[in-house]
Amino acid sequence: MFTADCLNINEKGRLTIGGLDTVALAGEYGTPLYVMDETQIRQNCRRYTQALERCYDGRGMVLYASKALSCKELCRIAAQENLGLDVVSAGELHTALQAGFPAERIYFHGNNKTPEEIRFALRENVGQIVADNLAELQTLSEEARAIGRSRVKILLRIKPGIDAHTHDFIRTGQIDSKFGFALETGEAMRAVELALRAERLDLVGLHCHIGSQIFEVDPFVLAAEVMLGFFAEIKARFGTELTQLNLGGGMGIPYDEHDEARPYEAYLEHAVAAIRESCARLGLRLPTLLLEPGRSIPGPAGITLYTVGAVKEIPGVRTYVTVDGGMGDNPRYMMYGAKYKALCANRAGEEASETVTIAGRYCESGDLIQEFTPLQPVAPGDVLAVLSTGAYNYSMSSNYNRVPRPPIVMVKEGESRVIVRGETLEDMCRNDCLRQG
Ligand code: LLP
Repeated sequence: MFTADCLNINEKGRLTIGGLDTVALAGEYGTPLYVMDETQIRQNCRRYTQALERCYDGRGMVLYASKALSCKELCRIAAQENLGLDVVSAGELHTALQAGFPAERIYFHGNNKTPEEIRFALRENVGQIVADNLAELQTLSEEARAIGRSRVKILLRIKPGIDAHTHDFIRTGQIDSKFGFALETGEAMRAVELALRAERLDLVGLHCHIGSQIFEVDPFVLAAEVMLGFFAEIKARFGTELTQLNLGGGMGIPYDEHDEARPYEAYLEHAVAAIRESCARLGLRLPTLLLEPGRSIPGPAGITLYTVGAVKEIPGVRTYVTVDGGMGDNPRYMMYGAKYKALCANRAGEEASETVTIAGRYCESGDLIQEFTPLQPVAPGDVLAVLSTGAYNYSMSSNYNRVPRPPIVMVKEGESRVIVRGETLEDMCRNDCLRQG
């Protein structure tokens, strides 16, 4: 029935997370409220690190893609779990450094890093930069020279020509994507040549990321094969054998009971088998393997609690159940038609006998969390829980309508604590400047 091990129902028939009563949490902290379970997050981290250890003798590193949820406490947990970190902006990098995340385990991504961001990353000695385009290679060299850095480790982001967003993944001649260097056009090879020749850049490997919320294993296997094929071409052409292969993130999570929980080990087992086979066939040494899971680390460990307000039944049309949050704290249904499971937290054990549309409090008709979804009968004042909101909710939130962002509360072993404070009304105008006089 649930999408994560941390969720359950107690003797009062209420939803619990990490053993704590969600109705009590809503009472203590108010709603809307993001709640996360630390044990579940750590378990999700360990599934990857243990799988890497088991399948590949630990020859690599799991990087948490912090865009899924960037805050100091998540960075601290990822560091403690021996993960590396993928950041894509000065803001994410700053957050990680503020949390004390070891700079050498940080990978700086982004398809349009500014020169200032590159300088910041170099000054802070981040482990590696994942270069996206030719202009960036130039900027990297210039910034490295400007601050006197002799060697900057880089990866190149490659478009392997595999589109895993489609229902059945396809391999196209050339993928239309703003990210990375294309293989087919020769752009990737040109970038390799430039990077190898650049004085201050140390090209150590290649990166690819084939999509997000992927359930199939085959696209990852194919990506590994395509990338290693390119490693071999590089070796044949320049005599240089790259040492790092970063296969990106994208592993899917369950959003309702129809989605199977993924055995991430299976992704790795198959990818590693393909890597071993390709390396043997192509005469390459086994590369260091990097993975970048984002969603699957915090995603299943988070829920959002709301208070039900107006319930509007439009006969023959639909019933709107309105909550005190919406697109501001979770824009994913509005943006992608994303699927979510909702339930009435104070009657979680009862049958979901109604079919309703969950609407938010923002001034947009499209401000919906889910349409025509099963739910227990609810009335104003009930607590509504939306599951699997730990990733890409807070990180994609906004202040539309000047509604303050909700806090994030972390639960662990029967205790709860705030890890991100909720915004106040004062925060809503803290950057406003009034003309004097
Ligand atoms: N590495 C790179 C280079 C990425 O671009 C991403 C995600 C990841 C790793 C992590 O992927 P994950 O394991 O989370 O699938 N906002 C969208 C998801 C965008 C993902 C962007 N890149 C959503 O809410 O579904």
